Amino acid sequence: MPTITFKDHQGAARTVEAENGATVMETAIRNAIPGILAECGGACACATCHVYVDPAFMPIVGEPEPMEEDMLDFAYDVRPNSRLSCQIRVRDALDGLIVTTPEKQA
Ligand code: FES
Repeated sequence: MPTITFKDHQGAARTVEAENGATVMETAIRNAIPGILAECGGACACATCHVYVDPAFMPIVGEPEPMEEDMLDFAYDVRPNSRLSCQIRVRDALDGLIVTTPEKQA
């Protein structure tokens, strides 16, 4: 089972097991990770599941689709490694993924 480490903006980290096929957002909610609100439930319509992907994982995670890109405009403090965690699907290649939650959600 892949593991994902969630860090908050101050660096506090929690590593949890993730199910293949679930999204990073769903994994966060299931594990009560603070800092991910996911108000739209994963429909790519709220930007409150914004995370920063560890740069080492960016080539594996990949770039956002155009719809996600548009939604990211509503997120707080967007950076080149910003993604909406509801649009990242867990798979074996993402084992060890590290994402950081922003200081606040949109
Ligand atoms: Fe709303 Fe991801 S949960 S955009």
